[in-house]
Amino acid sequence: MMLKKLCCYIWLILCNLLLVVMVSAKSHGNPANELVSIINENRTAQKLPRLKDNPGLGCMALQYAVDCKGNCTANNTVSCQPSEDDFTEIFAPNCGVELPTFDNISGHIVGCQFKYLEPSQAFSNILVRDKKALSLLRSKEHTEVGVGLIGTHRGPFFWCILFSNGQTNSTFVLEGGGRGIKQKRGCFSGTIIQCSGVHKIDFFLNTFLMIIYIIFICYSSNIIVL
Ligand SMILES: *[C@@H]1O[C@H](CO)[C@@H](O)[C@H](O)[C@H]1NC(C)=O
Ligand SMILES: *[C@@H]1O[C@H](CO)[C@@H](O)[C@H](O)[C@H]1NC(C)=O
Ligand SMILES: *[C@@H]1O[C@H](CO)[C@@H](O)[C@H](O)[C@H]1NC(C)=O
Ligand SMILES: *[C@@H]1O[C@H](CO)[C@@H](O)[C@H](O)[C@H]1NC(C)=O
Ligand SMILES: *[C@@H]1O[C@H](CO)[C@@H](O)[C@H](O)[C@H]1NC(C)=O
Repeated sequence: MMLKKLCCYIWLILCNLLLVVMVSAKSHGNPANELVSIINENRTAQKLPRLKDNPGLGCMALQYAVDCKGNCTANNTVSCQPSEDDFTEIFAPNCGVELPTFDNISGHIVGCQFKYLEPSQAFSNILVRDKKALSLLRSKEHTEVGVGLIGTHRGPFFWCILFSNGQTNSTFVLEGGGRGIKQKRGCFSGTIIQCSGVHKIDFFLNTFLMIIYIIFICYSSNIIVL
């Protein structure tokens, strides 16, 4: 009887360890970079050129998402329209984009969702779900792309894709040899920096699961009598 119980605990602990490993494996990498790959795969399938992954543009996409936080409608669209001046007066300075290298933004796609979706699901379910977005994605005009993502553990999650038709090789250059200004929340494409916002959810989820397991173990070993 005792042995059976012990086996049960060991099994539970192993399960939790597996979960921790799975959850932390999921938080590695950067979903914004994954979305850029998905965009480029979708374009190359149509024999369109790949878009250059520009970190300056990605950082501004994150700033766009930050600006529109709290503007998520019930149908997962964003009801927020930053002005063109916001790009040069707010987004670029907040990122440390060198203004002389600021180039033309040739399109943007934004979407939000109250729960976190994997990049592939975010792509097809919220960002590129109609003909208009798909034709923007497949425009021949674009040369560069940047993706930003922000979310909290209670949501909503905001995704923003910015396209540029900049013709030179050095557009939206970040100050400090490409480091720019460190972003406090969220993540953007073109860097190896991990998401701070998305990471947090996994941490919360993990802590929550841990507590449940501990209560369960204590309960079944009669340490807590409910
Ligand atoms: C989403 O909702 C807004 C109002 O909240 C409306 O203006 C818009 O047309 C809706 N979009 C779609 C795709 O249903
Ligand atoms: C939505 O965005 C507009 C600016 O585009 C802003 O004035 C408004 O306060 C935002 N709404 C919410 C709920 O944050
Ligand atoms: C910027 O892009 C827009 C949209 O693609 C285009 O209409 C406009 O002519 C471009 N402007 C410049 C200066 O390239
Ligand atoms: C590209 O994206 C569209 C819209 O989500 C989808 O219908 C299409 O199957 C995608 N194409 C490829 C090759 O993934
Ligand atoms: C961009 O410029 C750098 C040097 O400034 C050069 O090494 C690189 O090949 C260029 N890339 C493209 C795609 O033109």
